[in-house]
Amino acid sequence: MDEYDRIDAGIYDCYATGVSGDVAFYVDQAKRSGSPVLELGCGTGRILIPVAEAGVEVVGIDRSPSMLAVAKERVATLNSEVRSRIELAQGDMRDFSLGRRFGLIVIPYRSFLHLLATDDQRAALGRIREHLGDAGRLVFNVFDPRLDLLQQSTGGGSELRKLAEFTHPQTHRRVVGWYASSCDPLRQVIEQYNVFDQMDDQGTVVARQYVPLTLRYVFRYEMQHLLELCGFKVDALYGDFERGPFRYGGEQVWVAVKR
Ligand SMILES: C[S@@+](CC[C@H](N)C(=O)[O-])C[C@H]1O[C@@H](n2cnc3c(N)ncnc32)[C@H](O)[C@@H]1O
Repeated sequence: MDEYDRIDAGIYDCYATGVSGDVAFYVDQAKRSGSPVLELGCGTGRILIPVAEAGVEVVGIDRSPSMLAVAKERVATLNSEVRSRIELAQGDMRDFSLGRRFGLIVIPYRSFLHLLATDDQRAALGRIREHLGDAGRLVFNVFDPRLDLLQQSTGGGSELRKLAEFTHPQTHRRVVGWYASSCDPLRQVIEQYNVFDQMDDQGTVVARQYVPLTLRYVFRYEMQHLLELCGFKVDALYGDFERGPFRYGGEQVWVAVKR
């Protein structure tokens, strides 16, 4: 089972709210490129829907049926004109073939980090290159690893930290989410353990959900070499969604074109 299918996809949007400024940035990228845009790892449609609302046709691919089910529910509530600009399909970014090319391919919200092995990363970049038009752009973001945080969670795992607190959209109970991370520097992998407690009015936990998430972090020059190895040229690397300079420990926002 895909790790995102272990998440209660119905609560995903309550705590996974993106990186500051990302929606406006990706919508702007989409408006500049025009239709159609491809989003890999589109999840519940957090970026895809605003792109379509901005008048751009968008195809969203995701590996997880339950995340796609939430995206489809959300799309069904949109007006028919916006809906007609959206296509959703289950698929894996390492192995997809749509038989068409795009002026823009995006991988928002660090989804590239779900590629856990070099072969997976190279396979995805190969498929992306194949689906990009000659003047097309690949735009994506990943977090820039902070050595102090990695070290804190190496050899046993970090302490439990609060992730989010919200009202469950279906049960209307209070939910508190917690997480702890464990880093394996040899594999460059972080295992994040998310725990969601649903409580009744007395504060008694009536349901607990445990959701592991595995990420392979990438360093700045590793990403640059990987892009170049896979036939891309770096057009820009920003440190945030306001197009600020790259800074250690912030965000890596990449814009790459075909070499
Ligand atoms: C962090 S969420 C991002 C969702 C959405 N792009 C957003 O910005 O809110 C990562 C998504 O990537 C999907 N995913 C992970 N690995 C994938 C793969 N190999 N191919 C396609 N989708 C994948 C997950 O199912 C999940 O929906």
